[in-house]
Amino acid sequence: MAETDKKLVVILGATGAQGYPTAKYLLQNSSDLFRVRAVTRDRTKPVAQDLAALGAEVVEANFDHEGSLAAALDGAHAVFAITNFWDKADYDLEVTQGKLVNKLASHLPHLESYIFSSLPDGRKSADGKFQNILPYNAKAAIREDLYTYPALASITTELFVAFYYQNWLKYQIVFGPIKNGNGTFVLSMPYPSTTRFPSASADDVGVVVDSLLRSGKKYHGKTVTLVAEMLSQADTLESWANHLGIKAVFEQASSQDHQKRMAASMPEHLAIAVTELSSNLFYGEKTFGDDANLVDAREIIPANFKLKSWEEYVKEEGWSSIL
Ligand SMILES: NC(=O)c1ccc[n+]([C@@H]2O[C@H](COP(=O)([O-])OP(=O)(O)OC[C@H]3O[C@@H](n4cnc5c(N)ncnc54)[C@H](OP(=O)(O)O)[C@@H]3O)[C@@H](O)[C@H]2O)c1
Repeated sequence: MAETDKKLVVILGATGAQGYPTAKYLLQNSSDLFRVRAVTRDRTKPVAQDLAALGAEVVEANFDHEGSLAAALDGAHAVFAITNFWDKADYDLEVTQGKLVNKLASHLPHLESYIFSSLPDGRKSADGKFQNILPYNAKAAIREDLYTYPALASITTELFVAFYYQNWLKYQIVFGPIKNGNGTFVLSMPYPSTTRFPSASADDVGVVVDSLLRSGKKYHGKTVTLVAEMLSQADTLESWANHLGIKAVFEQASSQDHQKRMAASMPEHLAIAVTELSSNLFYGEKTFGDDANLVDAREIIPANFKLKSWEEYVKEEGWSSIL
């Protein structure tokens, strides 16, 4: 197929945990069908250069600068849309950025597919116990805005990615085990060690997005969940410690104590947000809400594709930064 006949897929957040493997997967597996435009604020980043070497068109744009973002989206047939709450940890900023992405996407004349990496509305899970899960609530506000563009909403697939395996490393203070003075790693959380909740490698977003794009309109209007395993922290901690030959223990903290510990390294409103986020994991699969129309990504990806297990992830990850 001639380059110009291929569909242009614009990947926002293309240097990130979800965007990078998505761009890479498309480049390595579907370059006969799709051209990839990878969006970053800094094209000199090693991962951006890596994508360029694989054949991506790497462009610089900022969610805060409408002109740059409009240029990055220009000509798109498909968009992988993601905003990053944690970049500034600012609810209002993320909502403003998400609304801008929606608005610009709604003007794209050739857009056939809008894949919105979102999250459930945190205020609706756990019988309304948690009103302050800011990254979830921001996605809900962006979703509400998206539905003010009916044509865009009609070609949208939402993707709920489960708790990343990568979170221990990415956000160690919030989610990971911390080494104490005796050299033992302590994972302290406001739920029992046996609580099982949906987990996945962010790397597997790639195969899901590729499969959605290959499915045409089939999943428009649906919400797809990416879950590789229902894991308890007792299990994850044990296999991790065994693999690394270290000692690790789980401690259940009260939510008040957890929030206090979080507040030592972040403003109070974020300490509340991350405490509620972690406490909500106690509700397992229900953290995805009670939408009966959720589609399991395993029904979409190729039958022979095996989503990464925690054990596999532990073996291939480099852990030196937290040891
Ligand atoms: N952690 C989890 O378990 C989990 C699960 C589901 C959903 N989420 C959601 O995933 C989102 C984060 O995605 P991620 O984990 O892929 O993020 P990430 O690894 O931290 O990467 C963030 C990406 O967003 C881009 N970005 C940030 N601010 C930008 C801006 N102002 N303009 C342009 N690009 C910008 C960055 O691009 P640059 O190259 O310019 O830095 C980077 O590519 C969060 O909103 C979170 O709520 C997380």
